[in-house]
Amino acid sequence: MALEKTLAIFGYPLGHTMSPVMHNAAARELGLAYRFLAYEVTPARIGEAFAGAKAMGFAGLCVTIPHKVAVHGMVDDLGEDARLMEAVNVVTFEEGDKTKGHNTDGVGWLRSLEEETGETPEGKRCLVLGAGGAARAIVMKLAQSGAAHIDIRNRTPEKAEDLARFIKEKLPAANTSGGGLDNLPSAAADREIIVNTTSQGMTGDFEREKAMPIPEDAIPSGCICTDAVYNPVDTPFMKAARRRGAKTVPGVGWFVHQGAAAWKLWTGAEMPKDLVRGKILEALGAS
Ligand code: ATR
Repeated sequence: MALEKTLAIFGYPLGHTMSPVMHNAAARELGLAYRFLAYEVTPARIGEAFAGAKAMGFAGLCVTIPHKVAVHGMVDDLGEDARLMEAVNVVTFEEGDKTKGHNTDGVGWLRSLEEETGETPEGKRCLVLGAGGAARAIVMKLAQSGAAHIDIRNRTPEKAEDLARFIKEKLPAANTSGGGLDNLPSAAADREIIVNTTSQGMTGDFEREKAMPIPEDAIPSGCICTDAVYNPVDTPFMKAARRRGAKTVPGVGWFVHQGAAAWKLWTGAEMPKDLVRGKILEALGAS
């Protein structure tokens, strides 16, 4: 019998990851001999773990917080998005013992937006809440897609300003600005897309679970609201956006699409996305 090929995710901490549910369901459904495993790897040992994956002939790797920037510096080659974003979330093991880093976060977010709303960011005024790794991938995609203006607002304003500058350095045609969370209602008033990339609303902390990234009455009716948080599936932000008459794109769609892009890179196959989404919703207790 042929050996199963190993796929894995490295992150720290990793308690919440749904990646094994996703990729193992895809392998079972397609009858492909892959097994996806999750490993908590500390930042101090990511180099050793990466070398180990290579030595043991892993078929592919996902890396998540806090390893995306470190692994960007370890691979032999980079895909275009990983090069632009200076962060890697997927690794492929290529011929000649070479590794290649990719970033599927931005494209996964864009595909979920297009699939669930039928719209693209082209020509749209956007507000991005948060300025971490998720924000970097999404702002880059918004800029590449021709968004009219991208305003980044963050609890720590300097990080939003840095991200706005970073994107403009990479894509000089991008129209970006950055600032703090003061006066969000006026920042949101003319926006057509609002993206939450903060952890507000995420499960695991009583206060955070109830928290909103933006006041409900600041959400313009008719705009598109997307959430990076996928656990719970229906966050306070998504509920509030529906009450305001906005279109909603919950984080689970983004999660599935970024994983489907990784799966395609590793196996060459299309992920059975609807089936996988169902399995994730079931695992999150939301089906
Ligand atoms: P990721 O890579 O998933 O984006 P991250 O880099 O840790 O994760 O970023 C988390 C984001 O949530 C940050 O923008 C963070 O704001 P700071 O840069 O000021 O830390 C934001 N965030 C976390 N807790 C928050 C809170 N209570 N209120 C507002 N923003 C918060």
